[in-house]
Amino acid sequence: MSDGKFYVTTPIYYVNFKPHIGTSYTTILTDVACRFRRFLGEDAVLVTGSDEHSQNIADLAEQAGKTPKQYCDEIIPKFLDCWKLLDIQDYRFERTSDSKHHRLVQKFWQRIFDRGDVYRGEYSGWYHTSDNRYLDPDEVPENPESHPRLKYLTEESYYFKLSAHAEWLKELHTQNPELVIPDIRRNEMLARIEGGLQDICISRTSTDWGIPLPWDDKHVFYVWVEALLTYLTGSGFDIDAFLKTIDGDRSSEVKEPLWTTERSDLISQPEDNFWPADLHVMAKDIPWFHAIIWPAMLHSFGAPPPKKLLVHGYWQFDGEKMSKSLGNVVDPYDAAELVGVDAVRYFLLREVSAGRDGNFNYEALVSRYKSDLANDLGNLVHRTVSMLHQTFEGQVPPNEQPDVASELEKTRLETIERVLEDFRCLRYSEGLQAIWGLVRLGNQTIEQFKPWEVKKKPERRSEVGSVFYGLLQSIRTICLLAYPVIPGAANRFWKTLGLAGTLEEQRDSALREEIPTGHALNKSEPVFERIDDKLEAAKKQDQTKGQKVSEEKKGDSAQATEASNEGLITIDDFTKIELRIAEVLAAEKVENADRLLKLRIHDGERERQIVAGIAQHYAPEDLPGKKLVLVANLKPAKLRGLVSEGMLLAGTDADGRLSLVTPERDISPGARVK
Ligand code: MSP
Repeated sequence: MSDGKFYVTTPIYYVNFKPHIGTSYTTILTDVACRFRRFLGEDAVLVTGSDEHSQNIADLAEQAGKTPKQYCDEIIPKFLDCWKLLDIQDYRFERTSDSKHHRLVQKFWQRIFDRGDVYRGEYSGWYHTSDNRYLDPDEVPENPESHPRLKYLTEESYYFKLSAHAEWLKELHTQNPELVIPDIRRNEMLARIEGGLQDICISRTSTDWGIPLPWDDKHVFYVWVEALLTYLTGSGFDIDAFLKTIDGDRSSEVKEPLWTTERSDLISQPEDNFWPADLHVMAKDIPWFHAIIWPAMLHSFGAPPPKKLLVHGYWQFDGEKMSKSLGNVVDPYDAAELVGVDAVRYFLLREVSAGRDGNFNYEALVSRYKSDLANDLGNLVHRTVSMLHQTFEGQVPPNEQPDVASELEKTRLETIERVLEDFRCLRYSEGLQAIWGLVRLGNQTIEQFKPWEVKKKPERRSEVGSVFYGLLQSIRTICLLAYPVIPGAANRFWKTLGLAGTLEEQRDSALREEIPTGHALNKSEPVFERIDDKLEAAKKQDQTKGQKVSEEKKGDSAQATEASNEGLITIDDFTKIELRIAEVLAAEKVENADRLLKLRIHDGERERQIVAGIAQHYAPEDLPGKKLVLVANLKPAKLRGLVSEGMLLAGTDADGRLSLVTPERDISPGARVK
């Protein structure tokens, strides 16, 4: 149910580097969502901003002889400039160093503290200064001391009782199956909840770059648990007014379950409050924070959680992860210089459905530009308008034979419905494909009816007039539908059609209107210039970036660092894992543990006990006799007091169904798997 408001956010970016094509993609996605919602007549707010209290920023600032704040002050304009270049319409830029944010963070967490969801403890471990998190023990590389961004820290810390919210989180995600899209990310989150949630550390004492805890100012907040609150700061949420409505344990204005609370229920809130957010957009690196930690924080505080999370994929460059050290990070300015801003926006949204990874290279960018924008759309408009000037004095002809272009009209109306639905559901690539279906049908209609012949065959004037009439209505519709993605070009086409105002001022009711007969068009100027000469430049840029990657990879030490950075392992690493075929001898349930089975297996040399989390997928009686793949050299671990001597390999699909890995042919226990 819409209340006429729409609130979308990007992640609050670390401002240690200027924006690149990846951060630009997220921001463009949110801009398209906003422009579309404004088109639907909603009041749309986009919040983006800077996450400044990261350890990495403090370190970089120190190296540069600046305060972290000065350092951020210098980088932030690069973000603002880039968003201007990319035509990001209206947005709020929130800084986590802002005093308004500090106040909100302290009040928010004080409430959670007062409710008893925070306790004091101690934390030791390897801290990653760029990712701003402690590594899990199994993530620590072999020589962590030599890793430039790892620091061993022991800190007194405060903890948030995340575990206390596990049941609620599970319900949140199961009751709202579309809260996290796509499904694969939702299932990942559910699996993590099922796997058990540990309490999380929310404060640090080893740095003073951050927001002090209101109840203990020796500590500053761990960067993530305050950065997330930017979404509340930027929404116009009035925390003081909200806290006044708190009656005992709960705010008197929130409904149960909490996720059904709407903005209009929050009577304490001012007119300009936009919380709860309609959409948080991010890549697949950070749904854990957004889909688990953030809703749990809000639950503990007593405010409603966000309504939807779109978790998109990563952009790579020519199949390689983009990274500063590889020198293959794509600068949006280079891309825009080559094909223009609209084409960059179009490419990013058209090339992949929002959940998937994308592969960027300049050649692909130029070829999309040429085929979809210059050839298909540019040609359709240019040919139609130029021919009309030659044959109908540049005016919209009467539609005397509506049946002639009826297929085009039918497709136009269907396209409107499809695109509105696709864009509402954030399926931008699919929506664009539908729009381009209409573009192509327009061009085919021109080929089919050859309207230029009317010059020599005046008897066709009435029929050709109707073809032009249909083409113009389609072009107008294409402008309105494609506008959120290519606002600059769509506006120029709108002008060519001689239509009043700008597309920014249009609402969806315009989709039901037509350009009237007799309306005068402007002359057609090419909107997508020919860029044949740029293809070579594009290929060169690809090669240069590709070369940088391979040179970088030649250096052994660099390779080692990158491998550990990117989670890649060498073949030597792999051979350390001893995989063997084992046969199950017996299996039984573990008491008071729904997920665990205790298995007796034979690994070819001896019997072992394995405790495996497969009870929800396999009945104990189905397992004896099965041959499975065992990780044989894993250190024994205790689960529910039972020793487990190894691990069995299994795969889990997107629906959460687990399947044990079995050898394809019958093979003896003990056989080595490589
Ligand atoms: N500061 C945190 C977010 C805090 S939100 C409360 C952070 N910042 S970040 O600068 O590292 O931004 C990460 C986000 O940038 C990703 O989730 C994604 O939106 C975007 N991307 C960064 N690299 C990207 C690609 N290569 N491809 C696609 N998106 C990319 O995490």
